[in-house]
Amino acid sequence: MKITVIGAGNVGATCAQRIAEGDLGDVVLVDIVEGLPQGKALDLLEAAPVMGHSRSVVGANGYDETTGSDVVVMTAGLARKPGMSRDDLQKMNAEIVEGAITEAHRRSPGAIFVMVTNPLDIMCEVAYRVVGGDPSRVFGMAGVLDSARFRAFIALELGVAMEDVQAMVLGGHGDTMVPLPRFSTVSGISIVHLLPAERIEALAQRTRDGGAEIVGLLKTGSAYYAPAAATFQMVEAVVRDKKRILPVAARLSGQYGIDGQYLGVPAKLGAGGIEEIIELPLTDGELAELRRSAEHVRAGVEALG
Ligand code: NAI
Ligand code: 2OP
Repeated sequence: MKITVIGAGNVGATCAQRIAEGDLGDVVLVDIVEGLPQGKALDLLEAAPVMGHSRSVVGANGYDETTGSDVVVMTAGLARKPGMSRDDLQKMNAEIVEGAITEAHRRSPGAIFVMVTNPLDIMCEVAYRVVGGDPSRVFGMAGVLDSARFRAFIALELGVAMEDVQAMVLGGHGDTMVPLPRFSTVSGISIVHLLPAERIEALAQRTRDGGAEIVGLLKTGSAYYAPAAATFQMVEAVVRDKKRILPVAARLSGQYGIDGQYLGVPAKLGAGGIEEIIELPLTDGELAELRRSAEHVRAGVEALG
């Protein structure tokens, strides 16, 4: 397997590290800053003997080295600064995504594209407009991260093992995301049976604010350890054909009454990319929240022109 990671910044480099050290495949790290991807790739390669893998890790400022990639992970772009919304990034990042995905797709037309750049759902659409064809091969990472945050907060609240907590957060990656307590469990027990409604809502709100909470602390950038871990999990599901059920930013074609746009929904991820989109039996209230989130994403896509 050959995996290209575009963007050698915080998310991209950490993701490249997880991919190489997780033995998923050979890695090509691309960035526009001269020396940056080469330096980080060499550093990662020099860690290989210690970490015990033999994967190649190559840095590049162009795309020729990416030729024949099986998976392309797109993290290049500008990150949020304090006071900046994900949507503020839209215009600048749309240009970056369009240019980079065009170059990568030209050299790896059969690749699966995993989008990370924000605003996530809209950048998925930008990438899809370049790649075209089967939308199950172009999707985005957001729900795994948002659900991981919800899981962590639930585990801390209840004082239980993180690994026993599962959660579902659907919708767009932003303030309108939709945490679903009914589908969030501790060892199969829905949290609606374990926590009072007001505590669940407080944890859900902390999840919606999760990205901003880290930006507020870091001040000069946004989260990257959890985002890189979440991206790794999705790439692993594809590379190892794991058939994992994860929240994925997928291009919907009528599911949940939403058509022709990206939104976070549960999906099965395997070698073919998105192999199935799962339609949960949502209550009227949950469905209304999801559609509100879809409207927000749609407005962003319309602003692209
Ligand atoms: P960063 O600033 O550390 O890295 C971004 C890298 O992209 C920089 O090294 C920059 O030189 C590079 N870059 C810029 N233009 C480029 C181009 N045209 N071609 C190639 N490389 C280019 O930012 P970080 O923290 O790695 O975040 C990256 C993106 O991921 C941001 O848009 C951020 O908002 C987003 N993000 C999305 C998450 C999600 O859940 N979907 C979670 C975390 C971050
Ligand atoms: C996050 O949620 C910035 O989208 C990024 O941390």
